[in-house]
Amino acid sequence: MKKIFLALSLVAVSMSASAQWGRPVDYAAGPGLKDAYKDYFTIGVAVNKFNISDPVQTAIIKKQFSSVTAENAWKPGEIHPKEGVWNFGLADSIANFCRENGIKMRGHCLCWHSQFADWMFTDKKGKPVKKEVFYQRLREHIHTVVNRYKDVVYAWDVVNEAMADDNMMFRGFRPGVKPSPYRQSRHFELCGDEFIAKAFEFAREADPTGVLIYNDYSCVDEGKRERIYNMVKKMKDAGVPIDGIGMQGHYNIYFPDEDQLEKAINRFSEIVNIIHITELDLRTNTESGGQLMFSRGEAKPLPAYMQTLQEDQYARLFKVFRKHKDVIKNVTFWNLSDKDSWLGTNNHPLPFDENFKAKRSLQIIRDFDPVLDAHQPKEDFVPNSMNQPGQEYPMVNSEGYARFRVEAPDAKSVIVSLGLGGRGGTVLRKDKNGVWTGTTDGPMDPGFHYYHLTIDGGVFNDPGTNNYFGSCRWESGIEIPVADQDFYAYRKDINHGNIQQVTFWSESTGKMQTANVYLPYGYGKMVKGKNGKMTQERYPVLYLQHGWGENETSWPVQGKAGLIMDNLIADGKIKPFIVVMAYGLTNDFKFGTIGRFEAKEFEKLLIDELIPHIDKNFLTKADKWNRAMAGLSMGGMETKLITLRRPEVFGYWGLLSGGTYMPEEIKAPKAVKYIFEGCGDKENPEGINKSVEALKAAGFKAEGLVSEGTAHEFLTWRRCLEKMAQSLFK
Ligand code: XIL
Repeated sequence: MKKIFLALSLVAVSMSASAQWGRPVDYAAGPGLKDAYKDYFTIGVAVNKFNISDPVQTAIIKKQFSSVTAENAWKPGEIHPKEGVWNFGLADSIANFCRENGIKMRGHCLCWHSQFADWMFTDKKGKPVKKEVFYQRLREHIHTVVNRYKDVVYAWDVVNEAMADDNMMFRGFRPGVKPSPYRQSRHFELCGDEFIAKAFEFAREADPTGVLIYNDYSCVDEGKRERIYNMVKKMKDAGVPIDGIGMQGHYNIYFPDEDQLEKAINRFSEIVNIIHITELDLRTNTESGGQLMFSRGEAKPLPAYMQTLQEDQYARLFKVFRKHKDVIKNVTFWNLSDKDSWLGTNNHPLPFDENFKAKRSLQIIRDFDPVLDAHQPKEDFVPNSMNQPGQEYPMVNSEGYARFRVEAPDAKSVIVSLGLGGRGGTVLRKDKNGVWTGTTDGPMDPGFHYYHLTIDGGVFNDPGTNNYFGSCRWESGIEIPVADQDFYAYRKDINHGNIQQVTFWSESTGKMQTANVYLPYGYGKMVKGKNGKMTQERYPVLYLQHGWGENETSWPVQGKAGLIMDNLIADGKIKPFIVVMAYGLTNDFKFGTIGRFEAKEFEKLLIDELIPHIDKNFLTKADKWNRAMAGLSMGGMETKLITLRRPEVFGYWGLLSGGTYMPEEIKAPKAVKYIFEGCGDKENPEGINKSVEALKAAGFKAEGLVSEGTAHEFLTWRRCLEKMAQSLFK
């Protein structure tokens, strides 16, 4: 139903929440990331020369980030390519940009096997130098860089990537060489691990107060994690001034999970109390860390399900970062936008796209809810009331969380379309038994929801629960319990009416049409007529329309219209009447054409064919003062259009999340006895309230309902029906 809700907003049927469909959304609107995270850690970005010279890009940096890393400009090979040759140009520009804008920097990096000043290893004749010569050169390098920039730098990546990816030789196995936890770099070959200690000592000499970091990738891999841990521990025990560990964070949309990440954070917390996430980006393939087999080239659009996976992964990782804010002091994105990314635009790895537009992931990272962060769902989950026989999942708990379980052993990803607002759904994760499970990130709105599964990009229903017609297809359904649910509950102690399906030939559409007709208990019974003779009782009729993507089954099944009527009648709140729920010809309509939607076809079907058929075949009171029309969403649009054009047919009108009447639109004020308007409080309650006030002021009998805690959903409309029914035919 979301979609029609959005579409309706286009024709300015006053609605709010997601009035975004069809227009570009500015996900950067709102506070900057750095402000959203000010009580947690600084948020950084790695920059290139374009980022600091283009006004669009500098504006993003200034708004979002409180820490900057030079992507390449400060690396030894860039800034100090030959003995005595220094390239300070770009390096200074970046530092000056930060100085001018009051942004502190991470100094990256002082010693690394790659992009290194390799001249340090050889003399003028190209012969290898002794390690003492190398140390002297490294010291001079570190001192020069640190002294030049330490006024603007708060932390240094002193040594980068000194540990091996596996426990073997980094550059392949060579006979006679023992496996080593260290990367077999030129540094290591010349000095062993002593170069690490020396680099930190030189940095400390030059900057007594800066935070000195050992930085590496794949810290979430158990083996690498332990190699890093052991090395840093050994160094610290020997008095080497290592203050913190940098976890680069070159991850992907499938990896790591929260557990792997937390294990690394916890392990490193045993030996340091500062961790920086130094180079965060999320590839859309399965590579990570130091593997660089990514695909470059022009941006190809990312499939929607992958975008959801990426958003979810960002959300999960940041939740873990926030949880560990006592030790995590900085999170830095590696590059500003997808266009800048070292992984190539096709990996779409960052929260800003190749045009520097914020993606939804930015909003998701920024607009976290600290209350939900701290909350664990209550473990009182029970099977959803709509489950197929014998099925345990999906489950719901007393707070409104939903939990899903899907068996799809060879799938790469499973997404449930239901989740917190503004997100693409709930991403499930494979558990130890190879089963996909997951719980919504927070409580869902109470009442009924349609949903489906997206498995590796394909759409499926959840075999655990029943199917309901919505979004032009049979969707899975789930029912979140709510305190007032008794008004639509089945009560075994009362009399129940019945719903029967009628089919009729429609000349105007050239096909059979279907309607479901609710007949109250006692239908057909004899009563005394006006002339004193016994006759069968006749009833008023409500024509009740569904919304876009739905059909004649929606009100009777997910709308619970029959049960609502039974309960109202049993409690004496209404006199019995008939409810006709017909298919409203909503589903052939194309998006983008709603502004031109006139409901002319349905008007013909309803007034020339359906109503005569009902009046002929059922015990109706066949006049306008015994006839009402109401509809939800697009059915509300139909109701408004048809009642205004044909006031002689219906005496009671109702719009349920389907817009409002303005008094001046109603040409014949005496034509309507009662107008109902309602919506959820997450829609546009002000619109409803204002309209009802205006109608009342103009002398109409009007009533509104704003449903608490609901949006464009069936609980809103069940509640609307329950209230509206009590004022019809009076
Ligand atoms: C990358 C840069 O982003 C690229 O432009 C460059 O070609 C190679 O290096 N780990 C690090 C970073 O510590 O310095 C690397 O940056 C990415 C991996």
